[in-house]
Amino acid sequence: MKIVDVRSYLTHAKLRDGEPVAIRAIRPDDKGRLLAGFGRLSDRSAYLRFLTPKKGLSPAELAYLTEPDFRRHVALVAVAEACEGARLLGVGRYVEADPDETGRGAELALTVVDAHQHLGVGALLLTHLAEIARQCGVARFEAEVLAENGAALRLLEHSGLRLHRSTHSGVVHAILEWGSG
Ligand SMILES: CC(C)(COP(=O)(O)OP(=O)(O)OC[C@H]1O[C@@H](n2cnc3c(N)ncnc32)[C@H](O)[C@@H]1OP(=O)(O)O)[C@@H](O)C(=O)NCCC(=O)NCCS
Repeated sequence: MKIVDVRSYLTHAKLRDGEPVAIRAIRPDDKGRLLAGFGRLSDRSAYLRFLTPKKGLSPAELAYLTEPDFRRHVALVAVAEACEGARLLGVGRYVEADPDETGRGAELALTVVDAHQHLGVGALLLTHLAEIARQCGVARFEAEVLAENGAALRLLEHSGLRLHRSTHSGVVHAILEWGSG
């Protein structure tokens, strides 16, 4: 399917337990949902995402995370469809580095609230982000993942994309490629 406008991206899916979710572009009015989602993230999950202890999100961080430009910075959320107020279950984003320096590689980040991990939210976010990135001319995703982060590494291994990985000092540098097709 040709993606016309990433900013209004919306699709529907079901998690492994049958729960219906919407995968859509993040919006400025998601700040409250993102903050509430961060509050439902364990210290360990926050650490695995940010690679440093993280207790909260500042107003500037919230603005950055919910107001991407949808050109070089694209973010999607997974929200529960059955829930009034559309509770946020996960968020995924990619940020393209300077194309001259990296040949259009983008940094990937995924976060799923603890109570909804292992249900396929992360895989859904990655699949849709990769399709958007591919159509927008991004060549690959890159991610820094702690070697102890088995869930993230399994997710990347099963993504259907070509995975190259190298490990230094307990951090896996993962490269995901989909080629030019
Ligand atoms: C890493 C993270 C995003 C994964 O999200 P998730 O929604 O739990 O992931 P999924 O349920 O889609 O996939 C994870 C599991 O499904 C499996 N899986 C995913 N797609 C699969 C496929 N197509 N076929 C078989 N197995 C698959 C993975 O092997 C993995 O196994 P596990 O359940 O034993 O862990 C989540 O654990 C998280 O937010 N962690 C904290 C933050 C973090 O580590 N971010 C990573 C930085 S990139």
